Amino acid sequence: MRGHVRIGGSKNAALPVLMSSLLTEKDLLVANVPHLRDVTTTLELLGRLGVQIEVDEKSVVRVNAAQVHARRAPYELVKTMRASILVLGPLLARFGEAEVSLPGGCAIGSRPVDLHVKALEAMGARVSVESGYIKAVVPSGRLRAARIVFDTVTVTGTENLMMAASLADGTTILENAAREPEVVDLADCLSSMGADISGAGTDMIEIRGRTSLGGAHHRVIPDRIEAGTFMVAGAVTKGEITLHDLNVRHLDAVTAKLRDAGAEITLGDDQLTVSMGVRPKAVPISTAPYPGFPTDMQAQFMLMNCVAEGSATVTEHIFENRFMHVQELHRMGADIELHGNTAIVRGVDRLGGAQVMATDLRASAGLVLAGLVASDLTTVDRIYHLDRGYDCIEEKLLQCGADIKRVADAALPQLRAVQ
Ligand code: EPZ
Repeated sequence: MRGHVRIGGSKNAALPVLMSSLLTEKDLLVANVPHLRDVTTTLELLGRLGVQIEVDEKSVVRVNAAQVHARRAPYELVKTMRASILVLGPLLARFGEAEVSLPGGCAIGSRPVDLHVKALEAMGARVSVESGYIKAVVPSGRLRAARIVFDTVTVTGTENLMMAASLADGTTILENAAREPEVVDLADCLSSMGADISGAGTDMIEIRGRTSLGGAHHRVIPDRIEAGTFMVAGAVTKGEITLHDLNVRHLDAVTAKLRDAGAEITLGDDQLTVSMGVRPKAVPISTAPYPGFPTDMQAQFMLMNCVAEGSATVTEHIFENRFMHVQELHRMGADIELHGNTAIVRGVDRLGGAQVMATDLRASAGLVLAGLVASDLTTVDRIYHLDRGYDCIEEKLLQCGADIKRVADAALPQLRAVQ
């Protein structure tokens, strides 16, 4: 594949930024919001709570939570998007009460929210679980500052607590905090709303609570996982792809791994070119919290190893069940052996096209890439997973010469290998 792709706004930055509107009664204007199913779900959830929402012609979203009348995030929305848990912190901080359905199982593991709840209890919330709902109240009326040490690095846990602490009484310290760029982007947005936060991007964040926050205008950072996915697309098809409007500094781990695989990568300020003239070399992958190798890029690199020269291990440290794509790749002729959270991948000359099924957002991206390099036709089913996190992926791939189309009826994109 050869061509140019514009990278959209980050899904995992847009969601918490939009939720932070609950912390103020003033307008929050959010630019570069990607057009994705998870964003639509977030806006629907905020709407249910009474938040006013407008999208202007430049797709800037204006959200205003002055009239919030409900404090309950219903199951039918939460079950489609576990990030709905991000309303818990802001609702407790602003209104002293919240009800959020438990997220339920997700394809990539149980995905508990115990660390969110434990930390909010440390700030004075009283939390119970009744008929599948987290019910939380703040008896004193206002959350109080606490020193919180997260047992495990949790991205949305850090985000939830940063939002809760921004209106709490006193100075909250978050230790073993997540360092992801999306956490930093939320901190930037909260600071522009008047929050007093320091240390975002490190593993210790300090938040000095305010009595209220104001409005702001915030532009969401580019999506580093969308960017990484297209970088792998360029590499596995031995082509040349230039990505525009991205933040190259957020992709160090991915760039390093692709260079190890033999790709040539040139970096500009907000653009990057991947070119690959030869078959990729297999590279070992071990996922870790940022700035380590991102778990959201594991499936894409597993695919690259499936068609690479040599063999390598892929170890998933973040989620206990994020190898659902392996069985689908097996059906395409991949040589992968699973041993607990480690996969041994031996490169084959060519995958064979097949009918495969998407299971989670990033696994489905890996299968789409597999279809680009497999012989004859691959059909990826259940791509609603894909639509949660990629905006018009087939159009962007078509622009680079891929032979891909979305089959009208049940959104079944038919893929053909690039001849
Ligand atoms: C965020 O999920 C992202 N989602 C995920 O992206 C990403 O894969 C993940 O972080 C890891 O980087 C959003 O930002 C909306 P975690 P999150 O809490 O916050 C355990 C995508 O494809 N844990 O950092 O839910 C958890 O089970 C999505 O865009 C607890 O045990 O992930 C996991 O093993 C997929 N208890 C580990 O921590 C808790 O209370 C990291 O999870 C919270 C988490």
